[in-house]
Amino acid sequence: MTHILLTMKDTAKNTVANWPVKAIFAASVLLLSSIAMSSAVSAERSPDVTLGKALHEKNCMKCHDNRQYTRPNRIIHTFEDLHARVEFCDTASNAGFSSDNLDDVVEYLNVNFYKFMK
Ligand code: HEC
Repeated sequence: MTHILLTMKDTAKNTVANWPVKAIFAASVLLLSSIAMSSAVSAERSPDVTLGKALHEKNCMKCHDNRQYTRPNRIIHTFEDLHARVEFCDTASNAGFSSDNLDDVVEYLNVNFYKFMK
């Protein structure tokens, strides 16, 4: 009988003592997952191909035209190469693209000429 009472007391004590820990844990999980979701949403800007086309026409036709992208001996063979080349040519042409605009131009070139899998 004494034994049972002790066990019940212990259980009750544990439950009460654990409650705040559980609540804090649950609150942290909620907080962390909402932070993770909001940063995922802000990182999710999809490239704008129409804007990429306009930026390309304005800044990128001074030294070469579109034939450069489909010539048989073209120098770009992967999506990463393409991104690096657009960055390089952005500097060469002083276009001054933001990283979002670089993505727009890369997407425009990929959709229309290179068609690499990402
Ligand atoms: C200052 C001159 C110049 C300007 C302006 C320029 N490029 Fe280039 N670009 C080059 C040259 C030169 C090559 C070829 C390099 C080679 O054949 O080795 C090239 C090649 C490329 C290629 C690779 C073609 C292939 O072989 O697959 C891409 C993609 C490219 N340019 C994108 C751009 C973009 C996007 C812009 C606008 C931001 C731009 N270029 C503006 C000089 C320029």
